[in-house]
Amino acid sequence: MYAVIGGSGLSQLPDFEITRRQVQRTPYGEPSGALTMGRLAGREVVFLARHGYGHTIAPHQINYRANLWALSQLDIEGIVAVASVGGIRPDLKPGQLIVPDQIIDYTHGRAATFFEGENQAIQHIDFTWPYDAALRALLCQAADAAGEQVVQGGCYACTQGPRLETAAEVRRLARDGADIVGMTGMPEAALARELDLPYAHLALVVNQGAGVGDSAQAISHAQISKTVQAGMASVMGIIKSLVQLHED
Ligand code: HPA
Repeated sequence: MYAVIGGSGLSQLPDFEITRRQVQRTPYGEPSGALTMGRLAGREVVFLARHGYGHTIAPHQINYRANLWALSQLDIEGIVAVASVGGIRPDLKPGQLIVPDQIIDYTHGRAATFFEGENQAIQHIDFTWPYDAALRALLCQAADAAGEQVVQGGCYACTQGPRLETAAEVRRLARDGADIVGMTGMPEAALARELDLPYAHLALVVNQGAGVGDSAQAISHAQISKTVQAGMASVMGIIKSLVQLHED
């Protein structure tokens, strides 16, 4: 069974036939909400809204450990993490989909590991390639089958938020080699790796980054809302095709 973590613009899955909701207690506190189990395109899927079902939990306040631990209690084959991002590379315009292959973490003060606490052996997970290669490939194949174009590969910068970046910060991210910027990819991806859960991002560019192209003077929230609506339909097409591909 695949898990889908929905971000901004995807706090529920359209066409998802919900069969039950499971409130999962964890040693790390409360997840963002109950795990929603159901069928999508005839296949079993579990869904969790990262920001809560009412979109009330800010990126730095999400209990990433509880979310990942809760999912790890189920028989999960992989996690598709949906994210809305800003485009840093000038060719990454609103509406474009991207499956990144690298991450740079600029967050701070988030509970970012399961390997801490008394009597816990320290472990240093390998994170050279932060996303699961097979799941990334499957997402790209699913996009193809769904007739959606995705940019394959790219570097996701994770900022602390909740504010958007300054133009100078985005210039710095570009110099660092980042292609897209979001606020929730970390520590989510690292925690998934700690639990050995295959994890990949399906990112939708909803705006150009601060100071870039159309966002030279400001980032338009009206534009973002419009892009999210149309873009999430494409995201859903890819996810449906992924779950079908896998079991066919
Ligand atoms: N910056 C950070 N996170 C984001 C952005 C952005 O421009 N757009 C959507 N999420």
